[in-house]
Amino acid sequence: MADLRVTVDGLTLPNPFVIGSGPPGTNANVINKAFKEGWGAVIAKTVSLDASKVVNVAPRYARMRVGPEKEIVGWQNIELISDRPFATWIDEFKQVKDKYPQGCLIASIMEEYRKDSWVEIVERCQEAGVDAFELNFSCPHGLPERKMGAAMGQCPEILEEVCGWVNAAAKVPVWAKMTPNITHIEDPARAALRAGCEGIAAINTILCIMGVDLNTLRPEPTVEGYSTPGGYSCRAVRPVALRMVMECARMMRTEFPGRSLSGIGGVESGEDAAQFILLGADTVQVCTGVMIHGYELVKKLCEGLNAFMDKHGFKTIAEFKGHSLQYITTHADLVQRQAAAKAAERAAASGMVTKDAAWSGDKFVEQSQKLVANG
Ligand SMILES: Cc1cc2nc3c(=O)[nH]c(=O)nc-3n(C[C@H](O)[C@H](O)[C@H](O)COP(=O)(O)O)c2cc1C
Repeated sequence: MADLRVTVDGLTLPNPFVIGSGPPGTNANVINKAFKEGWGAVIAKTVSLDASKVVNVAPRYARMRVGPEKEIVGWQNIELISDRPFATWIDEFKQVKDKYPQGCLIASIMEEYRKDSWVEIVERCQEAGVDAFELNFSCPHGLPERKMGAAMGQCPEILEEVCGWVNAAAKVPVWAKMTPNITHIEDPARAALRAGCEGIAAINTILCIMGVDLNTLRPEPTVEGYSTPGGYSCRAVRPVALRMVMECARMMRTEFPGRSLSGIGGVESGEDAAQFILLGADTVQVCTGVMIHGYELVKKLCEGLNAFMDKHGFKTIAEFKGHSLQYITTHADLVQRQAAAKAAERAAASGMVTKDAAWSGDKFVEQSQKLVANG
């Protein structure tokens, strides 16, 4: 049996599986349930100082189903950050830490572009005992209109300034959560790390429209006949998430070695998680997967990851973290490698000796003649 424990930014987690910010961490009740079931850490639903500005609509989810079993592969949400009062959250952070002192509780925070607000939210959450912060620079809908969330995450200069304010006030590790709705994710990730963040989390949801109802001609999810682009998550986004995690990991290896990376997007099995770790993630977050399968999913995740590690003889997560990054290269390099492999194949088929080890006592004369240029 492999050892699934991970130590990340000084925090020791029993396993790398972290509840991603969203409905599965939306109040003390459900956070306690997550710790009870054995999740490695919980990132609470994103909080802000003034919840009165947060007004949700219903319906706010839409799903993509495929195949005869109508399996859910994609999930759109137009949900905002938490609409619960900040004071309630502070009480609940304390309650959770009293009940699960060993549980790693991470506060996801978001504020407007004002230093005082960011400093206040950091100070009040850490007084309540949270173990780390995740900065939500990535919510794609609703909040960008207030220049929050993805609007900040798409502007590396502002993001760097905000991370600087947070890191000056924070006494616990800080992760910056990236939006995928950007051309080069390394740019905001680099800005956050330059400003002192311990880690990067990637990705939040991808902007989408789930579909258009061909009877009503209205886009979905429809609220009073209208819709707005939302965030896409679940299995369908995993390939995009893997690519973006790989891009962050490669940049971090060379420019910020030792900083941490939390992979997010479409994880529902231990095998999915192993792929994020192979591409450089220290931890793996799950949000929609918990909404579909429940908190018990963590047991299946641990079993799947354990089975993968046993199969390869890996005893710890560190032994394979980032292993597959070495196999990512450019397309031009693939062309060159393929040409070289074909040339070697042709040489082997012709019986021409290209390596000294290929000389054979029985075919020595024949082999010598094949190497003569002028017949
Ligand atoms: C309904 C819903 C609400 C979410 N709310 C938040 C949020 O408040 N803060 C945040 O940082 N991410 C939020 N997310 C994004 C998730 O944390 C995660 O980054 C994304 O869904 C991709 O992971 P998944 O495929 O495991 O869900 C939300 C996602 C969903 C589906």
